[in-house]
Formats: sequence, structure tokens, C-alpha cells
Amino acid sequence: MVITVTLNPALDRTLIIENFTLGTVNRASKERFDIGGKGINVSKVLKNLGIESKAIGFLGGMVKSVFLEELDNRGIEHQFVEIGAQTRTNIKVVDNKNSTNTDINEAGPAIKEEELQKFIEIYKENCKKENIIVISGGIPKGISDDIYARLIKIAKERGAYTILDAEGELFRKAIMEKPYAIKPNNHELSLLFNETLEDESKIIEKAIGIQKNGVSKILVSLGSKGAIYVTDDEIYSAKGLKVEVNSTVGAGDSMVAAIVYSLLNNLSNKDTLTFAQACGASTVQLEGTEACTLDEVKSFLEISERNVRRVDYGN
Ligand SMILES: Nc1ncnc2c1ncn2[C@@H]1O[C@H](COP(=O)(O)OP(=O)(O)OP(=O)(O)O)[C@@H](O)[C@H]1O
Ligand SMILES: [Mg+2]
Repeated sequence: MVITVTLNPALDRTLIIENFTLGTVNRASKERFDIGGKGINVSKVLKNLGIESKAIGFLGGMVKSVFLEELDNRGIEHQFVEIGAQTRTNIKVVDNKNSTNTDINEAGPAIKEEELQKFIEIYKENCKKENIIVISGGIPKGISDDIYARLIKIAKERGAYTILDAEGELFRKAIMEKPYAIKPNNHELSLLFNETLEDESKIIEKAIGIQKNGVSKILVSLGSKGAIYVTDDEIYSAKGLKVEVNSTVGAGDSMVAAIVYSLLNNLSNKDTLTFAQACGASTVQLEGTEACTLDEVKSFLEISERNVRRVDYGN
């Protein structure tokens, strides 16, 4: 079973408003809701790839029912802890006439100690042997930044695999517990080492350092430039695919889903990177936060494979 952890979900409300103006009444010509938070996004992609997962985390207030209804509609299992405070709603105003995007993000709820304890109990129940636990995204107020480290430790003690996608202190502390796989982008990796990492050899050198500390799979995404995959025994590099970019939202999450897919389907390291790049390309081609489908991903596999090469790094 695959479990995705989303401690700080958000409801994204997109309003299309032509000529958005401050201080007056604006009328939306179109609107949409998307349930989000990185773990939930990974669950959405997994569903499209034919993989069942269960989403866990915190939900509260009126927004909770919107989430549960949408998760049910999508056939994604869930086990969220109900909290006293309201889950975040983030508003995006898209003005196509003036080509502006305005984001209004809520601060989000604070989690109480007893709510966190409840979550830890549910989490433990779900950390069964061989389960794959995806831990991704930011955390709400009231939770300390060693939470992901704690969660990884618990999962590993119970024989589950952990895949981590986080940044800053959360990421730094979590990798000390040696998750099975991580998916930083080059910015997150640069922050970790406090140094700008752009060229391939530097990124590989740092990723090898992390691998030697006990992380088996390191997938570094480089946006339009592609990705680098450093593993226990092989290193591969992929050039970015040239596709029409409609929205980069969720590109990273689709790569995390690709790691899960590769683990469940026993893909080779090369095929994993090929598949992950095909997922990234399919996602950026789509509008908004829509998750890529297996057919779309498959249509990119051939071209993606041609852009992957093995890197010999004296290993
Ligand atoms: N402009 C682009 N053109 C082609 N492919 C892209 C582009 N941007 C992203 N991708 C694809 O998506 C993958 C992940 O993108 P990126 O490195 O931006 O992830 P991220 O920074 O973690 O994103 P997120 O905001 O979802 O966390 C890339 O490795 C690539 O395959
Ligand atoms: Mg990311």
C-alpha cells in the first residue's frame, strides 16, 4: 500500500477575472477548485497511473468536507485527523487581459499537540512492512521541523519505504534519518549545501555524498534542464524534454509519483529516470494543477529514453 502524507493541505481556488482591479467589485468569468498539498497531488498522479494510495494528514473546518468529497470522487482512500482550525484556502486571480497572476494565501491552521498525537497514532498504523510512505510538502504551525525526521524513523522501524520531498530545515533534519529516496530540485539541494549548484558534476558530487550517508535513490530535478538520478550503483542524467509548457504546477509531485511507480514495477534505474522525465513533461504540458495520465506519460517514453545517458563517475 502507498501512503501519502499531507500535513498542510490547501484548497486552491482559481478565479479568472479579466482586468482585475483593486478597490472595486470584480466579477469572475470562470472559477475552479482544486484540492492540493504535495502529498495529495502525488495521490492524484498515482491514481492516474493506476496505483492506489491512501492520503493522510490534517483537515478541518468547512474546507474538510470539500476535500473528502473530492477524494471520494477520485477514488482516493483517506484517513485525515480532524482539527479544530480551518484548512487553508489559497486564492489565485488569473487576469489574462493584463497577463497577471495574483496569489492570496492564507496562513493556515495551527495544530494542537493532541491533534499531532492522533496523527502519529494513525501514521504508525499505516507504516506496515513494505508499505511506501510519501512524505512531502511544508508543515503547518504548531509542528516542529524535525517532524519528517520523526516520521521517517517510525516508518523505517516498521519496515516501510520512505520517499521524501521537502525543503529547508525539514529536509536537512529528515535526511539524517536516511529515507529510501529523495526528490530535491537544484534550488533545494543548493540550500542544503549553502552553495549554488548548477553544473552536473557539482550536483552529482553532492548527491553522491548524500547517497554515501545512506539514502539509496536521489532524484534531482532541474526544471526545463531535466534531471539527474544518483543511486547506490549507477548514475544517470536526462536532458529536459522540449514540450509546450502550460503550467509547471505539480511537475515535482509527478516525479515523486514516478519514483513510487518505479519501485512497484521494479523499473531499472535508467527506466526510472526515463519514466520520471516523461511524467514531468506530461505535467507541464497540462493546464493548471491537473495530474498527468499513464497514456500521456507513455507517449513521452520513447523520446525521454533517448535523452537519458549513463554517467561514469568512477563508481
Ligand atoms: N519548463 C519545462 N520544460 C520541460 N520540462 C519541465 C519544465 N519544468 C519542469 N519540467 C519537468 O518536470 C520535472 C520537475 O520539475 P522541477 O524541477 O521544476 O520540479 P520542482 O521544482 O520540484 O517542482 P514543484 O514546484 O512541483 O515542487 C523536471 O525534471 C522536468 O522533467
Ligand atoms: Mg518540488
